[in-house]
Amino acid sequence: MAGAAGSPEKTWSSRTAFILAAVGSAVGLGNIWKFPYEVGAGGGGAFVLIYLVFVFAIGLPVMIAELLVGRRGHAAPPIAAETVAAGSQRHKSWAWLGWIGVIGAFFVLSFYSVIAGFSLSYMVETLTGRLGDLTPEASVKHFTDDIGGSFAIVFGWHTLFMVLTVFIVARGIKGGLEQAVTYLMPALFVLLVGMVIYSLSVGEAGQALRFLFQPRLADLTTDNILQALGQAFFSLSLALGAIMTYGAYVPRDYSLPRSAFIIAAADTGVAILAGLAIFPLVFQYGLEANAGPGLVFITLPLAFAEMPGGVIVGGAFFLLLSIAALTSAISLLEPTVSWLEEKRGIARAKAAVWGGLAIYLVGIGSVMSFNVWSDVTFWRGTVLDNIDFITNNVMMPLGGLGIAVFVAWFMNPEAVRSEVTGISDRLYKAWLNLLGFVCPVALAAIFFSVSGADRLVLRIVDLAGYGVSDDPGERLLHATIVFIVMIMPSLLAARRRHPQLALLAFVNVVAGWQPVGWLFCLVWAHRPDLLIATRRAMGARADAPQSPGDEHSGSAG
Ligand code: PHE
Repeated sequence: MAGAAGSPEKTWSSRTAFILAAVGSAVGLGNIWKFPYEVGAGGGGAFVLIYLVFVFAIGLPVMIAELLVGRRGHAAPPIAAETVAAGSQRHKSWAWLGWIGVIGAFFVLSFYSVIAGFSLSYMVETLTGRLGDLTPEASVKHFTDDIGGSFAIVFGWHTLFMVLTVFIVARGIKGGLEQAVTYLMPALFVLLVGMVIYSLSVGEAGQALRFLFQPRLADLTTDNILQALGQAFFSLSLALGAIMTYGAYVPRDYSLPRSAFIIAAADTGVAILAGLAIFPLVFQYGLEANAGPGLVFITLPLAFAEMPGGVIVGGAFFLLLSIAALTSAISLLEPTVSWLEEKRGIARAKAAVWGGLAIYLVGIGSVMSFNVWSDVTFWRGTVLDNIDFITNNVMMPLGGLGIAVFVAWFMNPEAVRSEVTGISDRLYKAWLNLLGFVCPVALAAIFFSVSGADRLVLRIVDLAGYGVSDDPGERLLHATIVFIVMIMPSLLAARRRHPQLALLAFVNVVAGWQPVGWLFCLVWAHRPDLLIATRRAMGARADAPQSPGDEHSGSAG
């Protein structure tokens, strides 16, 4: 296998290099473009507060788990997940955890590059003074018609951005990724801090600080909460292959929890700093804080147009945004490339070009979503909206759920313990509990309600007479209960290697017999022998349930 993860070329050369690359992956459009507008639309401080809780209580534990699978599997995500599963005598179909990552990253990059292209284009336009005299109407028109409306322009910048990304990834871990982040990350940091200082000193600092940090809990809605969890996951680069791939290159002696903590803290710090760079200016020039996705591309240019020296400040801001996007994009291309390299034996440079080309071509669908195909809408909207929906609302929560459940429940406990070093036993237990209980429930809840799968499940449950509510909060609660009562028993049986029982428990979900789920849990807790006898009666092999040879993990996952 050419260039397998085992070769010395495929490990980070230092802990700093690894942290810089991972922070580079995490810090991206999510922090500087998305986070501020979600804070704006989500009611300010309340959103920030709940976001912080999600990052550290749910995102951080999953990040440790994802790094762990990557490092232990020491290969591209699907291979890594399969290897780790085999090491714990689990079924090789756990490879799907890795596949979600590779495929998810592939599709996310296809539209990520288009938005990053907007940033490049705004950078050039601001620096050349073309946005010098902008009115609110002109700014909207500029974004939707002049830039977005032109296929050639969006396509051109998408092309340039993908070429840059492929160029870096083609040069390998040490020559490409590490080199790039060594220059780009400090530049990003300097630009960001400069922006914040400037913005706080000339803008409406007080109003911005109140907006960001004063939690008005009344503003918190179910939608906000779901959005905050989704944003925390996206911003930390979780469940989309990037962190698992970067984890594969981590030497055994680095502490995963410590690294993950630094990455999560840096990512959150940058998101908040981005808010501090943007909102003082937004308030200073009397603009709308809750402008939605147009905040950075439509609202902010107005501030740059009015302020003295806006050409420089605006240019610096879009340069910052472009750099952040680039270091994330390389981590989105890396899963595909490492898989092509390791599984297909394709040389790195070639793999980067072919992988990048495929993503680039798919990205044309997102390019056209702004212009030629802006009227072509189906299901969730334009092509871009659909890809965004599937990756963010279906693949990401499912992948995160899978990683949490796999590491906490299905891996060998000793193997897990040997990977999670550098923290006390108490912290370790806390991590395991968060990962095994809190994360799955939260991620299942977000998956059910954000993907709309809850309606499906609840409608089936409805056959048993429970009713489907239209209130999002009630639905969220109901879907969570459905998960705990109906899917957990199935997972529990699968974990104990009882495929038939897992199937039986799973039938609960389909048939909507919640009481059966409860009964199952009760019996399982008090008389597991009864269930084992049932399993025998159902025709399973009569060998000892925990024997290592019995590696079927059942239907759950
Ligand atoms: N975390 C990146 C951002 O905030 C996006 C990303 C998601 C990158 C998933 C890699 C994997 O923009």
